[in-house]
Amino acid sequence: MHAKRPVQAPTDPVLTQRLALTPVGRDDVDDLNLLYDDPVVAYWTGPWTRVAVEAWVANMVGRWAADGVGKWMARDRSDGSLVGRGGFTRIDLDGEAVLELGWAVRDALTGRGYATELGRAALAWAPAHHPDLPVVAFTEVHNRASRAVMERLGMRAAGIIRREGLIEGMTGVRPDAPFALYRL
Ligand SMILES: CC(C)(COP(=O)(O)OP(=O)(O)OC[C@H]1O[C@@H](n2cnc3c(N)ncnc32)[C@H](O)[C@@H]1OP(=O)(O)O)[C@@H](O)C(=O)NCCC(=O)NCCS
Repeated sequence: MHAKRPVQAPTDPVLTQRLALTPVGRDDVDDLNLLYDDPVVAYWTGPWTRVAVEAWVANMVGRWAADGVGKWMARDRSDGSLVGRGGFTRIDLDGEAVLELGWAVRDALTGRGYATELGRAALAWAPAHHPDLPVVAFTEVHNRASRAVMERLGMRAAGIIRREGLIEGMTGVRPDAPFALYRL
């Protein structure tokens, strides 16, 4: 007799070859403080305060509860050490409900394929849990590393959208920075 495979809940950990992905929760504040101390990860704002991290975590806990989707922490499966965070946010993109996919990897760990590995797992997770929601990703047009991840994941360029963000060669966050939009 075959045992039935248990149905995965949205909040169950997701395992990849090297990573364990777990929904962001209140126990993750210390690790997120470390992550947002990394200059490249915190490229918009500079290092985050603990209060800002706690507010972000509270928002994410609420999103997991309300939307059944949110960002994961990404840790090394073998020793539990922090790699980054990533996954989905359910957003309204000009009137269309979508899952926005994103990632951030510790500065010392970039270039090893972690964001791509997280993204691939996320793209496999989405149709199982939210088959009705299209997946998009976007980043400032000059964020070549993030665009490379989107392209490696097989997402296709779908134009430019304007959002709050950075503009190459200009200082500070601008209200209408150009972002490259990708769709699956
Ligand atoms: C973007 C980010 C998540 C990439 O993480 P990563 O684990 O290094 O990503 P991967 O190793 O899976 O892939 C990185 C890709 O970017 C490329 N890349 C890295 N730096 C680059 C650069 N300066 N210019 C062009 N390409 C670059 C790599 O060659 C690789 O491309 P490939 O898959 O075609 O070889 C990481 O740099 C990061 O956390 N940046 C800060 C936060 C951020 O920008 N998040 C995205 C906001 S939308």
